[in-house]
Parts: sequence; C-alpha cells; structure tokens
Amino acid sequence: MIIAANLKTNLTRVDTKEYIDNLEKCVQTSQTQNEVLVFPAMSSLLAHEGKVKVGTQNAYATKNGAFTGEIGLEHLAEFSIKTILIGHSERRHILKETQATLVEKFNFYKELGFTIVYCVGEPLEKREAGKEEMMAYISAQYEGIDTAYENLIIAYEPVWAIGTGLTPTLEDIEAIHTDLKAKSSAPLLYGGSVKVANAKEVLDLQNVDGVLVGSAALKVDDFCEILKN
Ligand code: 13P
Repeated sequence: MIIAANLKTNLTRVDTKEYIDNLEKCVQTSQTQNEVLVFPAMSSLLAHEGKVKVGTQNAYATKNGAFTGEIGLEHLAEFSIKTILIGHSERRHILKETQATLVEKFNFYKELGFTIVYCVGEPLEKREAGKEEMMAYISAQYEGIDTAYENLIIAYEPVWAIGTGLTPTLEDIEAIHTDLKAKSSAPLLYGGSVKVANAKEVLDLQNVDGVLVGSAALKVDDFCEILKN
C-alpha cells in the first residue's frame, strides 16, 4: 500500500523536519511494508534519507528561469526530490491550472523519471449530474496523460470530499476505482477525508492501492496510526 500525506500550506520548515523525523521513527519501529510519501509545503522541502520519501506539492516545468513564484528542477535536485504531485484539485480549482498546464508539467517530470502522483476527481455538481457526466469529467482529466508511465501513481480525490469530513460510500469508492483501473493499471490511491477511523475500511477495498491524506495527516501520531493499518 502507498500511504501519502499532503501537508498543503501547513507546518513550517522546523515543524516539518520534526514531523518527518518522527514519521521515520514510526515507519522503522512499526516495520510497516507500506510505502510512505510526504508532500511538505514548498518552503519546508528538505533532504531526507530513510524509508519516508519526500515529494513536492508543485513545481514548474523548468530547470530554472524567469517564473516568479515558482520553483524548478534545480530546487528539487538540491534536496534529491524525485516525486511530484500534479493535478491536485486545489491547484486545478483555486490556482486555475488548466489540463494543458498539467500535461506540460507531467511530460517534463516524466522525462526526468520522477514518480508522479497525478490527481483526478469531480466537484459535487458533476457527481450530482449522474454517473455518465461525472465519468466524462474525470476522463477529461486523463487527456494528454501517459497512463502507462511506469512511475505513475493516480489519486482519486472527489473535490467535495476534501477537507469536508464527507466521503463517498465504500461501495461508491470501490465502483469508481474499478472504473478508473480500466483507464490505467497504475497504483490508485483514494483521497478525501481519510482519517484514522475510516482508513482501514477504505484500504481494504478492491482496487484501492493506498490513500492520500490531508488534514488527518497533520498530526504525525494520527498519520502513523493510519499507516500502521
Ligand atoms: P483531506 O484529507 O483534508 O480531506 O484532504 C485530502 C487531500 O486533498 C489530499 O491531497
């Protein structure tokens, strides 16, 4: 299983260092076989050696250059980071990243062999519009993406379930994961209000290969409990 923490715009550099050190201890002492990924805030990126893998929540499709407010490959290489999150709904909806931008990032970091956690998921109005419209919306998020890329991980995160405490039913998660597995055999994570109380039942579902956790990952003890599951 792949257990990933998206720390979003939380935890300072000092807090993140302590978090990752504690998480590493948890991984080592629990002897979990799970693969553990952490995506800190950009200013908290750090080099870490151990079982916990650190990735970036974002980067521009460039080595360096004039892209104010962005970081590029050089800044990731400084910390030996080779894992990137692309297509998170907060970047699609709040930061207005288009599918074309995401494809550009995807191709750039794919060429470099990065592990790419590529996120897809529908807003509430698309879910309520029925399965056909919902699947058409999600399918459009696969456009231009190499679904056979060997270092690809996909995360299905329904937008309405992120940070809300709401989740689809277990049956719904299993059904949509089964549909999405037909599009790509890459490992498929579920994200959206995963917490200690529901992680195990989600991870037990067919075609769920892991979870991507936001709020409930902010406390390292809780995230540790989740990955021990
Ligand atoms: P929450 O776990 O806070 O719902 O966030 C999920 C998420 O967006 C992970 O990328």
